[in-house]
Amino acid sequence: MTTAPDKLPVLLSVDNVSLSFGGVKAIRGVSFDIEEGEIRAIIGPNGAGKTSMLNVINGFYHPQEGTITYRGRPRRRMKPHDAAASGIARTFQNVALFKGMTTLDNIMSGRTLKMHANFLFQMVRFGPALAEEVAHRRRVEDIIDFLEIAAIRKIAVGKLPYGLQKRVELGRALAMEPQLLLLDEPMAGMNLEEKEDMCRFILDVREEFGTTIALIEHDMGVVMDISDRVVVLDHGEKIADGTPDDVRKNQAVIDAYLGVPH
Ligand SMILES: Nc1ncnc2c1ncn2[C@@H]1O[C@H](COP(=O)(O)OP(=O)(O)O)[C@@H](O)[C@H]1O
Ligand SMILES: [Mg+2]
Repeated sequence: MTTAPDKLPVLLSVDNVSLSFGGVKAIRGVSFDIEEGEIRAIIGPNGAGKTSMLNVINGFYHPQEGTITYRGRPRRRMKPHDAAASGIARTFQNVALFKGMTTLDNIMSGRTLKMHANFLFQMVRFGPALAEEVAHRRRVEDIIDFLEIAAIRKIAVGKLPYGLQKRVELGRALAMEPQLLLLDEPMAGMNLEEKEDMCRFILDVREEFGTTIALIEHDMGVVMDISDRVVVLDHGEKIADGTPDDVRKNQAVIDAYLGVPH
């Protein structure tokens, strides 16, 4: 069980967001917020609109209706790299790493955004640029230690077991030093031990870096254990929103998971 203060400032809010793909309504008028420092779970049956919601939050999809407000500023249009620059990083439902590259280089790639920000400065002054490169490397090595993957730092990611690939992907997201971390099924396909490790890392990320985390997860035990609040989607609609205990007892949620027609 996690302990978070009762009322925290809102980091991001989703207001009345709707998203369609042609005739398919993936999200229908959904509103919820994510408070600073919380672990917010997004759950629901397959096709509920969870991944689409993360894609709206990080600017990959533009909702036809509604607003995303991040750090007090509303926005309608934003590209994923703007999201990353503003402190939103994510991992994907299907691991999206450079399979032929090492763990180290994959995590280093998460730093490029920060390096590019200083590109002009680097052109004129080589010395500071070198110092900066060293600082980036050090930061990446810290993340590697933090995630306990030093032993695989020089191994091509494609050769690693799936559970470790997921951990490397988390490392790359952390390399961006996000304020808001979006995790799409970080424990999918993992065995029990790997899941326990991932849960511990997620809690440690919040503890160590103060990162706010929104995660999509199917394992209800995990959701109950590590999240502060849970929003439940079903067929694109929000059907419940509250503490893990509230949500677990909610009849609409029970029906959605049992596949009761509506
Ligand atoms: N790029 C897309 N093009 C067309 N339909 C999509 C696309 N992405 C998602 N959908 C549809 O939107 C609905 C919600 O999908 P998704 O957000 O992936 O759900 P979840 O992650 O909850 O399983 C589904 O009906 C899915 O087929
Ligand atoms: Mg999904």
